Amino acid sequence: MKSIVKSLAVTALLGLALVSSAHATPWKNLDAEQLEATLVKKFSEGKYSSKGADSCLMCHKKNDTVTAIFDGVHGQINNSKSPMAGLQCEACHGPQGKHNRGGKEPMISFGKDSKLSASAQNSVCQGCHNDPKQMAWHTSTHNLEEIACADCHVVHAANDPALDKLSVNDTCTSCHTKEKADMNKRSSHPMKWDQMTCVDCHAPHGSMNESALMQPTVNDTCYSCHAEKRGPFLWEHAPVTENCVSCHNPHGSVNDNMLDNRAPQLCQQCHAPDGHASRVVPEPGMDAFGGAKSCLNCHSQIHGSNHPSGSLLQR
Ligand code: HEC
Ligand code: HEC
Ligand code: HEC
Ligand code: HEC
Ligand code: HEC
Ligand code: HEC
Ligand code: HEC
Ligand code: HEC
Ligand code: HEC
Ligand code: HEC
Repeated sequence: MKSIVKSLAVTALLGLALVSSAHATPWKNLDAEQLEATLVKKFSEGKYSSKGADSCLMCHKKNDTVTAIFDGVHGQINNSKSPMAGLQCEACHGPQGKHNRGGKEPMISFGKDSKLSASAQNSVCQGCHNDPKQMAWHTSTHNLEEIACADCHVVHAANDPALDKLSVNDTCTSCHTKEKADMNKRSSHPMKWDQMTCVDCHAPHGSMNESALMQPTVNDTCYSCHAEKRGPFLWEHAPVTENCVSCHNPHGSVNDNMLDNRAPQLCQQCHAPDGHASRVVPEPGMDAFGGAKSCLNCHSQIHGSNHPSGSLLQR
């Protein structure tokens, strides 16, 4: 409990000046900043009701969404760390105050409709969830972009959709529409059937690696499933060793094999105009250089070759 108060107290400092004036003002006249400062102050003062959840359920028990919390981990009384074993609803929503006089005095609320900043919402969760596993969160893009824990997590539910392999892709693509479009393209990782998920490659709470990847580099990410591409090869192809995404889009593409581009254009990003290919004039009916696979017809070992005379990746 102490840690919740402490983390909120920091946020409270920002708004202290506003709080005193806010007290005299009716709730509905407060702007977002004043509202937040007032709720945060109430939270840290900690005048919790003695009846806990019972006092809330008097009015909220008919809402199935609300009572669903008892089906999830946060509603379990037998786990001593669970909110329900302590301050109950108020552990997250803050002290009731005069809210029970018709629900007009606001409570701390969460998610997309909340009037509170993401960091104020999150500090409530972090009061309990502050183990080392959460360390990367602070510098993560999601934190810096003001994404709230409750934008992904649903706590009033038997099963949090963010923790379910069959629904986590929906959680992510509700914001990431470009990746949603990509994963539904002709060639993609099997994400549209939820056989693979965003969190197979990305750490949702951030990581020390670029693009919040789970593995130290893009290539290590790919090797974790496509081990055969790691080599070692007698003849390497430089861009393959360097970065798989110089040719592939990991989320999907309209081209076969999730390629950014089709050959020969794919190759010509780096090899034109020096490549010998540009010197060859394609003839009608011959697609050695002009057809969809072109360069790959001869340079078939595009990821590297172990053939003694495979230096041109042709065998
Ligand atoms: C006397 C009835 C009553 C009691 C008791 C009550 N509430 Fe409410 N609560 C309401 C009403 C009515 C609303 C809707 C207010 C609105 O939409 O403006 C509401 C809204 C809320 C909201 C949404 C707030 C928002 O700003 O969107 C939360 C969260 C909430 N209550 C939590 C609680 C908790 C936790 C308790 C117990 C500590 C509690 N309520 C006790 C009547 C009550
Ligand atoms: C009063 C402490 C407390 C607060 C506040 C709290 N949690 Fe939890 N949370 C727990 C406990 C206890 C568990 C059960 C796992 C454990 O024992 O560590 C848990 C588990 C979880 C899990 C894993 C659920 C699962 O099924 O394994 C998620 C996700 C989570 N909390 C998110 C949140 C979010 C989001 C918030 C803020 C809206 C929040 N928590 C606030 C105590 C808390
Ligand atoms: C971008 C979406 C997203 C955000 C934002 C997010 N989480 Fe999570 N969280 C997830 C996903 C997805 C998992 C499951 C990870 C897995 O299956 O590998 C998870 C797992 C968890 C778990 C259980 C497993 C564990 O790592 O301990 C807890 C607890 C948790 N999150 C708490 C939080 C808290 C607290 C916040 C805010 C500070 C937060 N999450 C923000 C998506 C998110
Ligand atoms: C672990 C923190 C936590 C606890 C404990 C908790 N809530 Fe919530 N509450 C949330 C979050 C987060 C949301 C946003 C929706 C969601 O995640 O389910 C929410 C949403 C709500 C809402 C708005 C629902 C709506 O229809 O929009 C009400 C009302 C509410 N809670 C009341 C309660 C009551 C009553 C209790 C106790 C029985 C309670 N909450 C316990 C975190 C909590
Ligand atoms: C509420 C909206 C929202 C949700 C839900 C969400 N994200 Fe994000 N995410 C963002 C924003 C905003 C950014 C920063 C802008 C961008 O890169 O699109 C971002 C950035 C990222 C990045 C780039 C990180 C970096 O450091 O470059 C990754 C990877 C990512 N999100 C993965 C996920 C995954 C995986 C999930 C689901 C577990 C998820 N996101 C859910 C909003 C969201
Ligand atoms: C097979 C591994 C893999 C999967 C699965 C995956 N990603 Fe990525 N993602 C990557 C890699 C690798 C990058 C870095 C791309 C780069 O550097 O150009 C990336 C980059 C991103 C970025 C940053 C984009 C940018 O332009 O900076 C976002 C956002 C993102 N992924 C979201 C998602 C979402 C949402 C999902 C699930 C629908 C997902 N990813 C699934 C591997 C994956
Ligand atoms: C979690 C495991 C996993 C990771 C990590 C992974 N892949 Fe895959 N990859 C798969 C699976 C599963 C398939 C589908 C195989 C099938 O359909 O036979 C696949 C297929 C592919 C295909 C062929 C797609 C097609 O249309 O046939 C390419 C190309 C590919 N992956 C590239 C990558 C790249 C690049 C990375 C790193 C950014 C990566 N993969 C990371 C599991 C993974
Ligand atoms: C220079 C461009 C390029 C780079 C870089 C590249 N690939 Fe490919 N990749 C291709 C092409 C072209 C194909 C299609 C091969 C074919 O049609 O014979 C392909 C096909 C694939 C396939 C599906 C067919 C197969 O061979 O299994 C996988 C999986 C794959 N690549 C993984 C990777 C991984 C992992 C990396 C990074 C280590 C990587 N690629 C780097 C060009 C590239
Ligand atoms: C991202 C840039 C890039 C792309 C895309 C690319 N390559 Fe390369 N390729 C290189 C580099 C760099 C080398 C090493 C050149 C060197 O060592 O002089 C190389 C070497 C080669 C070699 C061996 C030639 C030699 O001199 O060692 C062949 C053959 C080749 N590439 C064919 C292809 C084909 C075919 C494609 C398309 C499927 C392709 N490359 C796509 C950058 C690229
Ligand atoms: C008909 C088979 C064939 C096709 C198709 C082909 N190549 Fe080649 N490539 C070769 C042979 C044989 C060599 C070695 C002889 C030479 O240098 O001309 C070579 C050499 C290369 C080299 C080494 C540098 C050089 O100029 O000697 C690169 C790079 C290369 N090819 C790229 C490409 C690209 C890019 C394409 C597609 C636009 C392509 N090749 C299409 C057969 C082919």
